[in-house]
Amino acid sequence: MIYETASAKINLTLDTLFKRDDGYHEVEMIMTTIDLNDRLSFEKREDQKIVLNVDESFIPSDERNLAYRAALLMKETYNIKEGVTITLEKNIPVAAGLAGGSSDAAATMRGMNRLFNLNATLDELSELSATIGSDVPFCIYSQTAICRGRGEIIELLPKTPAAWVVIAKPVLGLSTPEIYGNLDLSKPFEVHTDRCLKAIQTNDYELLCQSLSNRLEPVSMELNKDIKKLKDNMINNGADGALMSGSGPTVYGLAHKERQARHIYNAVSGCCNDVYIVRTLG
Ligand code: C5P
Repeated sequence: MIYETASAKINLTLDTLFKRDDGYHEVEMIMTTIDLNDRLSFEKREDQKIVLNVDESFIPSDERNLAYRAALLMKETYNIKEGVTITLEKNIPVAAGLAGGSSDAAATMRGMNRLFNLNATLDELSELSATIGSDVPFCIYSQTAICRGRGEIIELLPKTPAAWVVIAKPVLGLSTPEIYGNLDLSKPFEVHTDRCLKAIQTNDYELLCQSLSNRLEPVSMELNKDIKKLKDNMINNGADGALMSGSGPTVYGLAHKERQARHIYNAVSGCCNDVYIVRTLG
């Protein structure tokens, strides 16, 4: 049996540069991982099947699940004759902007690489994984990085300054294509990519907090009023910085001290069910 951890990600920045001919947006975003994890195990099967067991009944266990698609891709690419049983314990909220599904797919590729002794490098897996989704290549490495292209071109960065992260997901999920579809690129919006890079390179927590910025945040805030409320709530209750992750709707707040994080956690717990206190990992 092989075990893998699939960590959630948060966006420290997200900028959209232009819309491409293929319909995707050219992005530049700095992402890091947090200690909120799905857990996967992998076991060989005598038959050819991919069997995915998920502990949450509302999550599909067929080709709609990115982990299943990742297993299929690995089988086809590396001509694997045996089957695999994958057990997935879900802890990362779905449709949240935390790349939970992408991270499961990435962990599946890493897990099958080990289970079948394929000796593929992370670079190879990352390149292969882009067909599954734009966030999967980042999740293969699962460490702080600046991501370009449609998200699949990864440049690894040093660890972020250590921080407590309070994560809160409003009930109503958001659709990524809809958010990108509603984005008006002619509207000016400043994303502090360089400031964030400097904060990471100099391990400057204060500067990191001042650099949090996401071009999709105002778009998602229009569609889901809880996002702004949560963000304001976090800032008013002592978060050093707060931002929506990805295309949302999850909002996170950063705190230097555990007590400060607990205070923010208690403040937002009243208005949504999915609230977590975690540490940065990346
Ligand atoms: O690659 P992924 O399947 O995660 O993307 C979902 C959707 O999000 C795409 O179909 C596209 O509408 C939008 N998207 C985009 N630009 C990106 C990434 C995603 O427009 N860089």
